[in-house]
Amino acid sequence: MSQENLAEELVHLDQMHVWHPFTQEATSPPPVPIVSASGVWLQGADGKRIMDLISSWWLSVHGHAHPHIARAIAEQAQRLEHVIFAGFTHEPAVRLAQRLTQLLPQGLNRVFYSDNGSTAVEVALKMAIQYHRNQGQKRLRIAVLEGGYHGDTVGAMSLGRSSGFFDAFNDYLFQVDTLPFPATWEGDDLVETNEEKALAAVDGYLHDFGSELAGIILEPLVQGAAGMRMCRPLFLQRLTQKIRQAGGLIILDEVMTGFGRTGTLFACEKAGVTPDLICLSKGLTGGFMPMAVTVCRNAIYEAFLGETFDRALAHGHSYTANPLGCAAALASLDLFATGQPLQQARTLETIHRQRLQTLSTHPRISKPRCTGIIAALNVTGTGGAGYSAAIGQKLKAFFLERGLLIRPLGDCIYLLPPYCLTEEELHIAWDGITAALESLG
Ligand SMILES: Cc1ncc(COP(=O)(O)O)c(C=O)c1O
Repeated sequence: MSQENLAEELVHLDQMHVWHPFTQEATSPPPVPIVSASGVWLQGADGKRIMDLISSWWLSVHGHAHPHIARAIAEQAQRLEHVIFAGFTHEPAVRLAQRLTQLLPQGLNRVFYSDNGSTAVEVALKMAIQYHRNQGQKRLRIAVLEGGYHGDTVGAMSLGRSSGFFDAFNDYLFQVDTLPFPATWEGDDLVETNEEKALAAVDGYLHDFGSELAGIILEPLVQGAAGMRMCRPLFLQRLTQKIRQAGGLIILDEVMTGFGRTGTLFACEKAGVTPDLICLSKGLTGGFMPMAVTVCRNAIYEAFLGETFDRALAHGHSYTANPLGCAAALASLDLFATGQPLQQARTLETIHRQRLQTLSTHPRISKPRCTGIIAALNVTGTGGAGYSAAIGQKLKAFFLERGLLIRPLGDCIYLLPPYCLTEEELHIAWDGITAALESLG
């Protein structure tokens, strides 16, 4: 079959039988069939190559089809593909748990496995709620930061309701307490004022409800789906100190920020915040296998011990601690251990900053910002912001036409590439963004 025929057939069959995520199928262009990938490059069924500048929904930290990870999965598949994880264990899960706890801030030493970012968050939520319950404390309130996104399952949607994605389900979501998020960017003169205001609101909230607070969940340093909104480490340090003083647990959702995205292996290191629980997924397996972990302090784990099952955590998934996922994650950690990925990330961050600086006076941009490998800006004069803003679709098509996978979040253009991207490739991406801005007139 010719390449063109294959591409046509795949699109035709896809449109007959497949329903895509986060997509208005009635108005979106047909999906692009991809047949293989290597490093930062996706190979289209039509023969065209596309540079993946968003790590395919923020997963692919080392680039696609890395041979070291592929080999580890293949070898594991021939030894043990899966085993029930209640009452049984296996080497990849044990070794991975040990290695993660060595890499995470001290004190985070119990690993609970699940399948994806949303489930990692659900698990953290259930741990936090039951932790207090098991100790006879009535702490039922959960605090979140305005704009935060934590996934699409019902608990995660409840936490992320202020993101505006879930209005159709509002009647079914449980109540959370939303605290202000002082987003900032290069040249933001009001950052200190906004942080003080936000912290004053936190003080007021804790004065009224601190004794009822189970904990806070937040994306440290960068809120991803909200449009790569960034905040300063000092704000997070002051916020979490207040929450902890009130007896609330600190849950960091590092599903997106984990595995080097903000410049350190975990954003909590850069933020200077040690959580009680942390949620990891996406980059955990290098983007190869659906897997997640929720890691907590021993004191939380110990609160679930007792003689009866009702003190235990009643949670588990069929694929919990899947050996192929664990093998992929171990192989991905081998690559991080070389130091090379984060070194390249630092080089790329320097280029991000130079290019953002050059663009900062462009009449069509606002709020240039960068944390680690994540660079973002907002397009002005678009006649609408938000995830579904028409400008986002228009820009996405513009980039794709030029062989670039850049998927704006509404009016926010951002780059979040794999660490294998070269300096030349990153300049091509920024040239593409500059051309897009020029095309808007
Ligand atoms: C911060 C954060 N938490 C949770 C999730 C949900 O992860 P998943 O899509 O794997 O369920 C995402 C996904 O983008 C995320 O960015």
